[in-house]
Amino acid sequence: MNLIDEVNALIQEAGEADIMNAEALEEYRKRFLGTKNILKGYFAKMKDVEPENRKAFGQLLNEVKNQAETRYSEVQTLIRQATRVQHQLDLTAPATPIAAGARHPISLILNRIVDIFARIGFIVVEDREIEDDWHNFTAMNTPDDHPARDMQDTFYLKDSSTYLLRTHTSSVQARVMTQRKPPIRIIAPGRVYRNETISARSHCQFHQVEGLYVDKGVSFRDMKQTLYYFARELYGPETRIRLRPSYFPFTEPSAEMDVYWGLKDETDYRITKGTGWLEILGCGMVDPAVLENCGIDPNVYSGFAFGMGIERQGMQKYRINDIRQYFENDMRFLAHFGSAF
Ligand code: DAH
Repeated sequence: MNLIDEVNALIQEAGEADIMNAEALEEYRKRFLGTKNILKGYFAKMKDVEPENRKAFGQLLNEVKNQAETRYSEVQTLIRQATRVQHQLDLTAPATPIAAGARHPISLILNRIVDIFARIGFIVVEDREIEDDWHNFTAMNTPDDHPARDMQDTFYLKDSSTYLLRTHTSSVQARVMTQRKPPIRIIAPGRVYRNETISARSHCQFHQVEGLYVDKGVSFRDMKQTLYYFARELYGPETRIRLRPSYFPFTEPSAEMDVYWGLKDETDYRITKGTGWLEILGCGMVDPAVLENCGIDPNVYSGFAFGMGIERQGMQKYRINDIRQYFENDMRFLAHFGSAF
């Protein structure tokens, strides 16, 4: 075979080679287009070609190169497309996981509690977190010089002795009673704030649920039965409760309610202090002075009220040992709470 025939054969090969995959394409590239491609040898042989044929010979060599370039980019595109299509349609590929959200544990508990009271006719009321002194304290029978103000370390707004971050949801009682007439049967969930040192057991922000029932002839017995119903719904049908006498400025008489938790979880006397009883809320008959402050006649109406913290109950329920975890938004913590309380 003379040189011309050899180069013609190369043209044909470059144009028609079967290139089945990326490796074969790389071989092809090396052979025709790489730094040590086969054409180099033929260019070197140019001097052996008769002078009158050199131009045509050169053109043939260039033709090989052109063929190779065209074919190379064609096949390259095909392979890229094929890889992409294959990727899109690979039904055996593992699915991309869909990140499932979970409710915040505080919302779970709040919702449970609200549901339980809604079933016996309590309606939800939400009100402001920036409150004035009157609704938070004065109306609730806690005037300026009242020692009970020291029970709750208050965040006042800057340069204000009037506006504060509410220290309890009891402020909503005053909001409701000044706006509506009895019968009043409300439940008020929300965030409250106290100027306390943050530790594993206490925080400067937490959540409470307040309850208020005012009507003609509301008695202590009604309160006890309502709270007993609530405790059994939340903690189970066998739950036992007890009421201990206590003191709050806005109720008279006042009590604290415990549920029987047992000593099964008692590790360091933290949970029930060795008694088996877990304190979950404060309650009492609305003090007549509070009704009067809010424009409701205490000679006609009476009522009961209660207030409970959410974080502590959740800590018991979910065995959370550091209250700060509620507010850190750590996904590893939050992702645990996929299901209802
Ligand atoms: N406000 C009280 C607190 O934050 C809790 C409380 C006690 C609310 C007795 C009430 C109540 O409505 O009757 O500690």
